[in-house]
Amino acid sequence: MNSDSPNQMLPIVDTLGRAHTALRISVTDRCNIRCFYCMPNEKIEFLPSREILSFEEIVSFVEILADHGVKKLRITGGEPLVRSQLYKLIQKLVVVPGIADVALTTNGILLTEQAQSLYDAGLHRLNISLDTLSEQVFQRITRRSGLEKVLQGIDQARQVGFSNIRLNAIAMAGLTETEVVPLAEFARQHRLELRFIEFMPLDAEQAWQPDKVFSGQDVKRMIEDRFGKLQPVQADDSSQPARNFAYDDGSGQVGFINSVTEPFCGSCNRIRLTAEGKLRNCLFSTTEWDIRELLRSDATGQEIAARVRECVFAKKAAHGIDGQDFERPLKAMYQIGG
Ligand code: 5AD
Ligand code: SF4
Repeated sequence: MNSDSPNQMLPIVDTLGRAHTALRISVTDRCNIRCFYCMPNEKIEFLPSREILSFEEIVSFVEILADHGVKKLRITGGEPLVRSQLYKLIQKLVVVPGIADVALTTNGILLTEQAQSLYDAGLHRLNISLDTLSEQVFQRITRRSGLEKVLQGIDQARQVGFSNIRLNAIAMAGLTETEVVPLAEFARQHRLELRFIEFMPLDAEQAWQPDKVFSGQDVKRMIEDRFGKLQPVQADDSSQPARNFAYDDGSGQVGFINSVTEPFCGSCNRIRLTAEGKLRNCLFSTTEWDIRELLRSDATGQEIAARVRECVFAKKAAHGIDGQDFERPLKAMYQIGG
């Protein structure tokens, strides 16, 4: 890469001045369960493996972006742990100069087997999706069984030393009202941070409707009714989408990601790389920028960074889910990366 690039070391900023320092990397579109808010149940055409970025390609891209101010990475899927030997990618990412933080979002099913190798590879932050503690509700959501494995996986992750484990629960009206208090109790008991996320229109079967959103405000009210008043906690990172609250009795925190009812687009610092190497400036992008084509040609780092800037420059002010002219993205969550 040519070091006299004018862009070199300048952060990647959009037209509204938002500096993009966080990259989410989807490593596969495959998953071992079928959450209805993310994937179709059947007839899924997964990407053939030649279309998926190799670990080497991902690392090359991260090295370029780290030169342009990207500091935080999150590995997503599909389910990232179904990608063979994922720990080897982690090993390579944690040592890229400039990368200060590498995290992973997983459904937890394969954690019992993989927690130790991930931790040893240098991963220290985990988000585990857990929407319910009832096997029956788990099966309604995921259309598969496996809650027991997820709970074992959480336990294993704690045992191998992960201390920054967060549980992510999607709140859905008419479905997870019964889950709020048990999940909060579980998280308090195990001293895990729990965050409720509003259901967004990213499901493959287009079941999302505004009335299926169980708002963070309503979830918070249920928690306060049971555990007492929650005290707001100042976020240490302003781009952090969760609003965190502390329990009055000192038993930890609970957070709310109110993506639909209180969008946080104004402070968004994220770009997203899909498993097939397309770059998106938003979960709700309707356009993508092809990075794989450049990585597989003899493009320079400068040319690749220029395409990233083009993508970020085209970023809209907000997702506009609540607007009349909102257009659902053509891809569902498993094809984008959560
Ligand atoms: N709305 C909100 N969150 C979603 N996720 C997947 N689909 C949706 C959706 N439609 C979340 C999962 C997981 C992460 C991968 O993305 O719960 O935490
Ligand atoms: Fe799999 Fe995660 Fe999508 Fe559920 S949300 S189907 S666990 S990728």
